[in-house]
This record gives sequence, C-alpha cells and structure tokens, in this order.
Amino acid sequence: MTTAFKTLDDVDVAGKRVLVRVDLNVPMDGDRVTDDTRLRAIAPTLRELAQKGARTILLAHFGRPKGKRDESQSLKVVVPALEKTLMQDVGFADDCVGETAAAAIARMTPGDVLLLENARFHPGEEKNDPAFAAELARLGDLYVNDAFSAAHRAHASTEGLARLLPAYAGRSMQAELDALSKALGNPERPVVAVVGGAKVSTKLDLLGNLVGKVDHLVIAGGMANTFLFAEGVDIGKSLCEKDLADTAREIVAKARAAGCAIVLPSDGRLAKEFKAGAENRVAPVGAVAADEMILDVGPDAIAKVSAVLEGAKTLVWNGPFGAFEIAPFDQGTVAIARKAAELTRAGKLLSVAGGGDTVAALNHAGVAGDFTYVSTAGGAFLEWLEGKELPGVAALSATS
Ligand code: 3PG
Ligand code: MG
Repeated sequence: MTTAFKTLDDVDVAGKRVLVRVDLNVPMDGDRVTDDTRLRAIAPTLRELAQKGARTILLAHFGRPKGKRDESQSLKVVVPALEKTLMQDVGFADDCVGETAAAAIARMTPGDVLLLENARFHPGEEKNDPAFAAELARLGDLYVNDAFSAAHRAHASTEGLARLLPAYAGRSMQAELDALSKALGNPERPVVAVVGGAKVSTKLDLLGNLVGKVDHLVIAGGMANTFLFAEGVDIGKSLCEKDLADTAREIVAKARAAGCAIVLPSDGRLAKEFKAGAENRVAPVGAVAADEMILDVGPDAIAKVSAVLEGAKTLVWNGPFGAFEIAPFDQGTVAIARKAAELTRAGKLLSVAGGGDTVAALNHAGVAGDFTYVSTAGGAFLEWLEGKELPGVAALSATS
C-alpha cells in the first residue's frame, strides 16, 4: 500500500469549492440513523474544512438505486443526523449535478456545508462515465476523498473525479490508510490475523493473501469447522462447507510453505439447537456428537488464542469467533476481543479490526474504542485484506 497521496496539509482551501466524497451509507430505521459511526468518522475533515473557510460540498451514495431517482433512497434523511454530528447547518441540493447543484453552490459562503443528492440516482456514477465525472468536476475546485469504505468502487465520485481535479485524502481516509499500512504494509512482527465468519467461500482470496503475510492465522467462527472437517475431525451437524475441504487443505499447505502457523479451535461450546440460551456443553473438537453443533470456541481455545496474542506485536481482526449474537455463544469473541483490547491499552499490541460483523462484535464486547483502529468499512476492508488495489485509493495516489 503506498502512502503517496496528498492530504489536507498540502492545500490551501480557503474560499475554494471543495468536493468531498463521504460515505453516508448509514443504517437507518425509518428516518432515524441507527449508527452514526460513519458520520463521526468524517467530522474531523468537515470541521477542518469549514474552519479553514472552504465551501464544502458533500458527494455520497445511499443504498443502490441503480441509476434512477428514487425518493426512498434520498440522502435528505441523513441531513439532521449530520447537522447534529457536525454541530452546524448542512444545506441540501436535490441533485448532484446540473443547474440545481450549481445554483445551491453559488449561494454558499466560506465555511458552509452543502450535501448533494445521492450520486447513484445517475447511471454515470456507477459506470464511472467520464462525462458524468466531468459534470461533477465542474462544481468544484478541489476534490477530497474521505470515504475509504467506498474506495473499492471505481465510480465517478470515488475514482473518475479524482483524476479531473487536484485530489487529496481526507483525515478519515488518511487515518485509515495509515492504520492499514501499519497493520499489513510494514508491520511489527509477529503479526496475527484473526479471520472469522460463517463461510470459507466468501474469504478464500483473503485467506490466500494473509497466509503469505502473517505469522499466525487464527481461523474462527463457522469457517473453522470446514478446516476441522478437512483434517478429518468429526464436527457433528456444525455449519460446514464440505465441498471446500480440498480448498481448506490447500490453504493450510500454502500457510505451511510460507511459515504461517494456522490456529484452529481446540475445543468448542456445543449445542443441539441454534438459539439464545440453548443447553450447551464444552468439549474438545474431537468429541462432538452427531446431533451437536460447535457454536463457539471453548476455554482451552480462548487460552491458546490469548497466548498467541500475548506473543504478538500486530493484530488484524475480521469476523467473530462464535455465534456472538446469541448468548452464551458470544463468550469466545468477547473474551478474545477483551484480551486484544487489554494488550493494546498496555501498549503491547497494535490492533486493527474491520469488516461487516466485526465492529458489531467488538461493540458487543465493549472494546471497539480500545483497539488501535477500527475501520468503518465493510467490503473495502475485505478487499484490502485480499491484497487488492482499491480504485478510490489508487486514483488519489495517481494524482500526487
Ligand atoms: C458500504 O456501505 O459498504 C459502502 O458504502 C459501499 O456500498 P455499496 O456496497 O453499495 O457499494
Ligand atoms: Mg456494502
């Protein structure tokens, strides 16, 4: 990962029209934002721009309206939450290009913030159509991308535009890229990766990339069952992708060749039903009955993973250990997350987490704030773990 991009330190924004790509794709319940993490993430950039006297014009997507105007996916509903987070008024323009946008921008004074309507209402956004990108570019003098979590999309507002205007990383993008490069770009060793989640099939590229980069790969969650099965362990009726046994063995062989130690659960918390409070017992992974499922790691596995973390300098975490949404099968995730948090607080571990369920799992354990860095990204974090170049990031570097 290169750090050859410019930041807000490299530009004078006073009086300028600054187009800022942000990720406002926040979870909603009706008109209410249920998790404002992404809004808080962009606040430092937006406050800094306002303080420096920029005219800040926000570009974003919301949902997947597929190139058509759809009022149910209007960004307008996000304005009140954004105003609350920024503690300042945020204007709104009904369209992100054309007369409507231009007129709203013309009325702005330095320090103002204006949100433009969902860029995905236009087909040119997802197609990364040069003509649409040029229409966007006409609205601003400078471009800032503060949406790492949308950087895996090569869209007009994330990629094309960066090539048409002087382009800079916002503070959140900058923090994200710094943390990620410390975690996998040039990390302090030993490096541990925890990869969990239900299915191996969604994480094949990621596992293939990580075994060549990390010293220990802890396989967690439902996908550990597939690896256990591949080793001939009877896993009862646990979730398992039996057709991927060969693939699992190939990953293990690749790890061995690369000197990466694979850590699989030694014991589990077993139950006959997948439900909160289900009757359960702890047993070694070799002792699962035909009608039982492994729903979490057991105390021996927790101790072993904790010992690996104690010996490590860097941790990259994606995915929970067990069925953390239902107690008591959240215990493994909670215990290991707390261990990682404790080591981080003590200055012994650099810990970076992200992707999908991971933030929810760390919040459940009450330790998201104790990790060195928690990414707000889902798909972008996974693609980064896969070792892929993210188009939105590449476009920023290219213009430097
Ligand atoms: C996200 O919510 O993960 C990002 O905003 C990307 O959204 P998308 O998956 O619809 O491109
Ligand atoms: Mg997504």
